[in-house]
Amino acid sequence: MAGANDIRKTFLDFFASKGHERVPSAPLVPINDPTLMFINAGMVPFKNLFTGAETRDYVRATSSQKCVRAGGKHNDLDNVGYTARHHTFFEMLGNFSFGDYFKDDAIQFAWNLITKEYGLNRDKLTVTVFHEDDEAFDLWKKIAGLPDERIIRIATADNFWSMGDTGPCGPCSEIFYDHGDHIWGGPPGSPDEDGDRFVEIWNLVFMQFEQLASGERIDLPKPSIDTGMGLERIAAVMQGTHDNYEIDTFRRLIEASIEATGARETEENKASHRVIADHLRACSFLIADGVLPSNEGRGYVLRRIMRRAMRHAHLLGAKDLVMHQLAPTLVSEMGQAFPELGRAQKLIEETMKLEEARFRQMLDKGLRLLEDELEKIADDKELPGEVAFKLYDTYGFPLDLTQDHLRGQNRGVDVDGFKVAMEEQRAKARAAWAGSGDAATEKVWFNIQDEEGATEFVGYTTQVAEGQVVALVKDGERVERAETGDDVMVVTNQTPFYGESGGQMGDTGTMEAAGVKLKITDTAKMVGALHVHKAQVKEGLVKVGDALDMIVDTDRRNRLRANHSATHVLHEVLRRELGEHVTQKGSLVAPDRLRFDISHPKALTEDELAAVEREVNRIVRDNAAVETRLLSYDDAIDAGAMALFGEKYGDEVRVVSMGDNPDKSKPHYSVELCGGTHVERLGDIALFTIVGESAVSAGVRRIEALTGAAALDHLLGQQKLLKEAASQLKTNPVELPERIAALQGERKTLEKELTEARKKAALGGNSSGPAVKEIAGIKFIGQVLDGVPPRDLRGMADDAKKSMGSGIVCLIATNDGKAAILIGVTDDLTSKASAVDLVRVGAEALGGKGGGGRPDMAQAGGPDGARATDAISAIEAAIAAS
Ligand code: ALA
Repeated sequence: MAGANDIRKTFLDFFASKGHERVPSAPLVPINDPTLMFINAGMVPFKNLFTGAETRDYVRATSSQKCVRAGGKHNDLDNVGYTARHHTFFEMLGNFSFGDYFKDDAIQFAWNLITKEYGLNRDKLTVTVFHEDDEAFDLWKKIAGLPDERIIRIATADNFWSMGDTGPCGPCSEIFYDHGDHIWGGPPGSPDEDGDRFVEIWNLVFMQFEQLASGERIDLPKPSIDTGMGLERIAAVMQGTHDNYEIDTFRRLIEASIEATGARETEENKASHRVIADHLRACSFLIADGVLPSNEGRGYVLRRIMRRAMRHAHLLGAKDLVMHQLAPTLVSEMGQAFPELGRAQKLIEETMKLEEARFRQMLDKGLRLLEDELEKIADDKELPGEVAFKLYDTYGFPLDLTQDHLRGQNRGVDVDGFKVAMEEQRAKARAAWAGSGDAATEKVWFNIQDEEGATEFVGYTTQVAEGQVVALVKDGERVERAETGDDVMVVTNQTPFYGESGGQMGDTGTMEAAGVKLKITDTAKMVGALHVHKAQVKEGLVKVGDALDMIVDTDRRNRLRANHSATHVLHEVLRRELGEHVTQKGSLVAPDRLRFDISHPKALTEDELAAVEREVNRIVRDNAAVETRLLSYDDAIDAGAMALFGEKYGDEVRVVSMGDNPDKSKPHYSVELCGGTHVERLGDIALFTIVGESAVSAGVRRIEALTGAAALDHLLGQQKLLKEAASQLKTNPVELPERIAALQGERKTLEKELTEARKKAALGGNSSGPAVKEIAGIKFIGQVLDGVPPRDLRGMADDAKKSMGSGIVCLIATNDGKAAILIGVTDDLTSKASAVDLVRVGAEALGGKGGGGRPDMAQAGGPDGARATDAISAIEAAIAAS
């Protein structure tokens, strides 16, 4: 029997042999289509190839695309478990022609594959065509030889396929398999078509049009082909069952569910095992593609699917947590075709475990409340909306989970009442918010978040994505459009642009559409989770509702990532090198540098800085992978995560772990709670160097550092300086310190010699000696000494006094425009003229004040060295007057 893995391989091999490029499945989160929640058909990743907006070096492709239909236009969540063919997750096998072959070859390929490669009995096959499509009708007749009654013309939308409200579309032709008259149902188009007897296995879409948002439908540049065959359905047909849940893959998952829940499969509980098996696949693949459970957007759809499965596990009476136990079976079934599943296995298991543990805590209480409430109402009444809301709000029961629970009792929920209760709560939250911060400017953002929901950030996994404009704000007011030259704030439903938070600066880049170009100069995060892009419209007109290609400046973002990851490593290295008292006091992650403030009582020594730098670089070279996880706050702290005191954290936190821990006390070197963007492996940081260490305030030190190319440029710059300095001194860098020390020694000696020479010159070093005057019978020497250190004046004055025997000496040393004055009076004259009085006179003349000393020796200073000779004259006058 051909297993699902063989059937997939046969399909892809067949089309590869017909010149089709084998294209791996795109991730479930569409980055090229903001109107879709998840990829829901094989053609979505190729959307732009059909419209001609993008070309690649192939015109034929084949893939097995992961699809999720839960939320959005194609939503099958509610039916899963209760029918033979609905899934939240399935694989779509497809072959595509981008303006290459059209109907003829498409029908030929399809017929050959199913009748020859898959060997299906041609008598069991029926096809449909769009009622106006005579060409397809004739081709089926010619190629397959089908009789007219097995080529059914269908007039409805069933045979006109479109991806969503907009996008490529066209008439289609579907191939049905007849499971036989032992199963109820009629051929397509008949009143009994909804039965399980005739099952659509393959849809061939003849792509001819593009549906625009305006309602207009235009021709595609060239007719193209898109086909989709559900792997699970074709596997069911080939494995002789009409029930997808009986195929090999699902049987193994259901067996695993039976084992893990301990609940034997019965008619009553069959649906629960199916729900678990189906949802396990959807949840695991979503987690592997970067979606984590949350209360917004895609994360909330994931949470709803997870909780629905978990309620069914509970219904089956499972004692232990179930979902994570099933992951290994899924990986062994599908991990070869989808390697991302194996890579994410640990993350899948942890995420499931956390979600299930938390949900379990609420489930019993919630169900008890539900039962109590049901007792109060009549059997034919709907559950009141406010009860459903309470279950949602207090016990984490998504609405569809409550609906699913009541389905068994044939009871509905008052959905309108639920919405009213939800609105009331929003209004309350909003009123509570309005009091905080700048209410006026926040109001516009609050309104947008209220109406449009939080922006979905897809930038952890991609730096390019499409987004749909949900609001434009100009000068604080909402506007419908902005045009060339306008500065405008742009809010989109999803974005790869990181909004400034946690010290990491916001992203910059561009947003584009045909004829439109916006430059994004910054991105901020407003009122919680709204990413607001600061834009300049460079070209064209942008309107609310437009889809834009959003392209982050990748080089800048990569530098931000490196600097952010380096900050985490630095933080932990500092703690280990300096001690546990080190805590983060502030952080800035910019594209060109990082700044990190820590509590530490004193400056880091050169040795400490070198040790820190060396250790950070060692960890960078080890090149460990950076892991992100979503954990409960308590589990994160148990795992050793560092939380910042005074920060507000939700009960779920993003935990970033990096590096191997040498002492193995915990698995990672650094574990922090962080919402920022990081490198994939620490080697991406490349190089780390500290460029500054300084004080911010008492007990807080600031470290500034560079990474990657910026670090290298800095070090090369330093090296260049060193070489230049060495060459100036005519030596090499190695001998530079010695050479500088020698030069300093020489300089000291020369300075000394110079001072001596000056002293000598000033006080008798020359033949005639210092000029000795006589003032009122008193010998007087008055001398201005340029460049003599003030500390030398005393000795010189003593010498002068000695040489005069009796007299007064006044020496003024001028240095850098300032003056130091010293007066010496021989002992026999101190009763006539005190050095202290005289020095005051001199100081005053020099623009200074005061002075001090003894009657025989006093000194002072003055700012105005240029008036030194005036000062001497003033002293002479004072002596004359004494
Ligand atoms: N895109 C087509 C479908 O999903 C093939 O049915």
